Amino acid sequence: MTTVDVVIMAAGKGVRMKSRLPKVLHRLAGRPLLQHVLASVSALQARRVVVITGSGAEQVEAAVAAWLPDGPAPAFVRQEPQLGTGHAVQQAVPVLPDDGTALILNGDVPLVEAATLQKLVDTSGGRRLALLTVDMQDPTGYGRILRSGDAVWAIVEHKDASEEQRDIREIYTGFMAVPNVLLKRWLARLKNDNAQGEYYLTDIVKMAVDDGADVVAVKTQDKVQVDGVNSPSQLADLERAFQLRQAQALMEQGVRIADPARFDLRGELACAQDVEIDVNCIFEGQVSLGDGVKIGANCVIANAAIAAGAVIHPFTHIDGEKLGVRVGEGALVGPFARLRPGADLGPEVHIGNFVEVKNATLARGAKANHLAYLGDATVGERVNYGAGSITANYDGANKHRTVIEEDVHIGSNSVLVAPVTIGKGGTVGASSTITKNTPAGALSIARGKQVSIAGWQRPKKAGG
Ligand code: UD1
Ligand code: CA
Repeated sequence: MTTVDVVIMAAGKGVRMKSRLPKVLHRLAGRPLLQHVLASVSALQARRVVVITGSGAEQVEAAVAAWLPDGPAPAFVRQEPQLGTGHAVQQAVPVLPDDGTALILNGDVPLVEAATLQKLVDTSGGRRLALLTVDMQDPTGYGRILRSGDAVWAIVEHKDASEEQRDIREIYTGFMAVPNVLLKRWLARLKNDNAQGEYYLTDIVKMAVDDGADVVAVKTQDKVQVDGVNSPSQLADLERAFQLRQAQALMEQGVRIADPARFDLRGELACAQDVEIDVNCIFEGQVSLGDGVKIGANCVIANAAIAAGAVIHPFTHIDGEKLGVRVGEGALVGPFARLRPGADLGPEVHIGNFVEVKNATLARGAKANHLAYLGDATVGERVNYGAGSITANYDGANKHRTVIEEDVHIGSNSVLVAPVTIGKGGTVGASSTITKNTPAGALSIARGKQVSIAGWQRPKKAGG
């Protein structure tokens, strides 16, 4: 087994993003580009991971520290100013031991897979310079691979390439594996006498050949893995490619996605059998869908566990944040429902349109079908919660709980001022404002009595 030291270049400005945010912190599928790279790296069991920062260094370093990826915590090396990729890697030399192999990656190429990186390391075999290459339809801007047969003898950067060299389609992806000791020797010899006045990492290929070291190109067929992000348009393209991959993987498990081109997963989605997902849904964080769950069009669902047979109708927004949301077996939610953190729906619960539920437990068969708010509440089995009713859970300083015991019927447009308990089997008359606990089985009404004045004359318009 080769000892691997990963070096990730992330010092570049990312000028074409035209953003204040450092490029490697822009998000793909909900996670920063650099976090994708670190996730692939974590499978390699590297001895150390070095991230080279420069532009927005503080921001990038703080972000990485907050992710706590598996494996060794990354070390940071600053590159100030940024004089090219060779200069970037030179900054890592003091933290690279003489034994081991350096695996050099780009922080802005997010979708590279661990198996591809491992193959590069294996090809290097502790003694060769291994380069990852790919054939490009349009190789403009990239470093071209110069080879005679299998032997690679140099990489020439686009700006330095001749007309014939520019016709070469095989390009360097920015990934290489190279023994540390050789890397250090060659880095020390880099010059910047080229079209961009930069220290090119790619110049070490020619040095390797001059020194009689083996240079091997590993060509990948999978462009998505080596695509970099330089502009919002490239970021969007890569996002779609990645989403399509995720959708395909789910469909291979049997998930029925109405249109994989209109599906977005920004996190993890675990699906049981016979799950159906209609168009334009977004899943974020950790979401699980049980057997036979149906998700209607245009739902946004984050951090939620949805049990077997539940149906989420169109335009529903669910976000469990840290507390999570649970939807019980056979529950019906939406259309246009909103479930917030701590919403915990039992089996067969119905939540209808324009109903908001937060930090509330609803037991089996409870229903809130129209225009209602349930916050900080415990709702018993079979409760019917009328249209337009709300739990007044906030007194301006503190939150209080509302308890609605089983089989209660809350009439429309009621206000339950917490803390308050509605006794089992009780009924609250429509439009009541309930401020005191109500006894079990009683009808409780708290509203102005109806008065009718016979023959009432409406006022007349002055001068009319
Ligand atoms: C580089 C390669 C080119 C290859 C291409 C693949 C060189 C000289 N050229 O091109 O052969 O086809 O990648 O995408 O290496 N960076 C730093 N410090 C610097 C300059 C860059 O950290 O001073 C980082 C950038 O943040 C980025 C990476 O290095 O993550 C690559 O830099 P970029 O300018 O995008 O690559 P090119 O030089 O265009
Ligand atoms: Ca460049």
